[in-house]
Amino acid sequence: MRHLLSAADLTRDEAVLILDTASELATVTDRSVKKLPTLRGRTVVNLFFEDSTRTRISFEVAAKRLSADVINFAAKGSSVSKGESLKDTALTLEAIGADAVIIRHGASGAPHRLAHAGWIGGSVINAGDGTHEHPTQALLDAFTLRRHLTNGEGDLAGVRVTIVGDVLHSRVARSNVLLLQTLGAHTTVVAPPTLLPVGIESWPCDVSYDIDTALTDADAVMMLRVQGERMRAAFFPSANEYSRAYGLNAERLRTMRPGSIVLHPGPMNRGMEISADVADSDRSVIVEQVANGVSIRMAVLYLLLGGNTKGQGS
Ligand code: CP
Repeated sequence: MRHLLSAADLTRDEAVLILDTASELATVTDRSVKKLPTLRGRTVVNLFFEDSTRTRISFEVAAKRLSADVINFAAKGSSVSKGESLKDTALTLEAIGADAVIIRHGASGAPHRLAHAGWIGGSVINAGDGTHEHPTQALLDAFTLRRHLTNGEGDLAGVRVTIVGDVLHSRVARSNVLLLQTLGAHTTVVAPPTLLPVGIESWPCDVSYDIDTALTDADAVMMLRVQGERMRAAFFPSANEYSRAYGLNAERLRTMRPGSIVLHPGPMNRGMEISADVADSDRSVIVEQVANGVSIRMAVLYLLLGGNTKGQGS
């Protein structure tokens, strides 16, 4: 594997290898010296054309824990604001010797373009492209599910996950549905009809408009952020109406199985798709998801770059 562009690119064995490697690397976080020499001398670029807190920081921490040199590039404040193209930005990164480029971009497909246009020789990791995919988020979610629902390193086969909310604009939902299918879990997505994408019937999951029914037999519920910044029209009557019909609150949480868990990729709209008391409850693993993101991103960087010199990955 040379790039990580889509959750669909991962075979079950590759996905499990990333999860198992992340489990091993998680122990580094518990040490007083949180560093391994694995990627010493390698250069990792965080190329972010869209805002991020969790993904950008956790990739930076992950790369630094593996001793890589990290360059943080935000489109705001760079020559992109003067109109520089993705190609010329990529050629610049190639010229400075980037071994891996972690890209977040508003355009679906931008990471694929970067990986396959021949502009750069290193690995490309998709850190979220438009409404398309966010594969490392799906991996960290699977890692979190495994830790809570399977004694740490078990099989997710048969585990039931309900994903609720703005599926239409969610790259997290698509990557999760694809990866969970690869890992043998059963997924149901729940949304109002206006927030489901065209073609949802071809996704490998069940689809429902009824959150209450879909929660009753779920081992985990993943709440999605309502992505107001991507909405050019009214997709629901009001925030209150949305929250009443599709929000996770304490009353709904009580109807779920004992031991079931609550995930959210962040950032959260507290009081809209999730109530503050649920977000902060002992069933919520939302903060842990962020910590697990560091282990997963260490594993991805380690497996893509560890031991390979630039351009020699398979
Ligand atoms: N989950 C996620 O992608 O969060 P950020 O936008 O903060 O990176």
